Amino acid sequence: MSVFPAYRPRRLRRTQTLRRMVQETRLSVDDFIYPLFVLHGQGVKKEISSMPGNYHFSLDMLPAEAEEIARLGIPAVILFGLPEIKDCYGSEDYAEKGIVQEAVRAIKKATPDLVVITDICMCEYTDHGHCGIVKGCGERTPGRGLPQGYVINDETLEYLGKIAVSHAEAGADIVAPSGMMDGQIQAIRQALDAEGYESLAIMAYSAKYASAFYGPFREAADSPPQFGDRRAYQMAPHNVREALRETALDIDEGADIVMVKPALAYLDVIRQVRDTFDYPIAAYNVSGEFSMVKAAARLGWIDERAIALEILTGIKRAGADMIINYFAKDAARWLAEQ
Ligand code: PBG
Repeated sequence: MSVFPAYRPRRLRRTQTLRRMVQETRLSVDDFIYPLFVLHGQGVKKEISSMPGNYHFSLDMLPAEAEEIARLGIPAVILFGLPEIKDCYGSEDYAEKGIVQEAVRAIKKATPDLVVITDICMCEYTDHGHCGIVKGCGERTPGRGLPQGYVINDETLEYLGKIAVSHAEAGADIVAPSGMMDGQIQAIRQALDAEGYESLAIMAYSAKYASAFYGPFREAADSPPQFGDRRAYQMAPHNVREALRETALDIDEGADIVMVKPALAYLDVIRQVRDTFDYPIAAYNVSGEFSMVKAAARLGWIDERAIALEILTGIKRAGADMIINYFAKDAARWLAEQ
């Protein structure tokens, strides 16, 4: 008589085909969104030193890159722009011929079916590197009682609306506000609707944490805050109930997709958002999470391909429907080979 109960899990692990049949989570290229960094200039395709395999592109180099991304089957890109000049209003973020607006046009022309998402945040465009209008910028002085340099919420909302409309006019398919201002989804929805863009979707960075994992990105996007930090608008890593409140607010305000960011240290947040809301969820496997893998792989300490696919699978298993990630092009190739 066997001492085991009737169920023996190893029966279904015996061969590759059996394992394939009982596989619960299937990572697919359909899940990926690939970030692109665009800047002014000509003939630029320069590797970002802290993010190997990712590049800064000038506009003329974008069509070829977009075509390659589309050929790999990746459905969407998210754009980050580095402006010519920065000022306290982040003016190039809503300029008709701003870098992101021109990038959207270039990509939509080359690959009309590739979904183009634009990140709506002012930190790359402001001279102070914060994600909004700070007290002390310009003639108007809202924010009574707040210190100089504090990011003024409602003043910022007007700019976010303008930025969203200008990205829409350039042809973006989805706008993705990442500044963590209160009321930003409603402000952007109203601004878009007022200009006739009621069918343009919003991907809300709903639970975006004040994370040290953004380090390599800030170098790539030239967007570190010049003073202070982002803890007065991004969330504390210690909080998950607050993430659910933030997500509920964004859904109320009109978000079509909600996001958790970063992903790897926040898998429990993804899971709770998944179990609480019946909305599409994006997770952002951010720059620091990517660069750690690259660095360890270069040292020969880990197998990059196996680790990357395991991480992306884990994020999907936690409940993400879409994964913004810097592995996307390689991962698309690896999945096609499997
Ligand atoms: C803009 C923004 C950031 C990231 C995406 N959008 C940086 C930040 O909030 O400082 C980080 C992405 C990454 O690290 O890959 N606010």
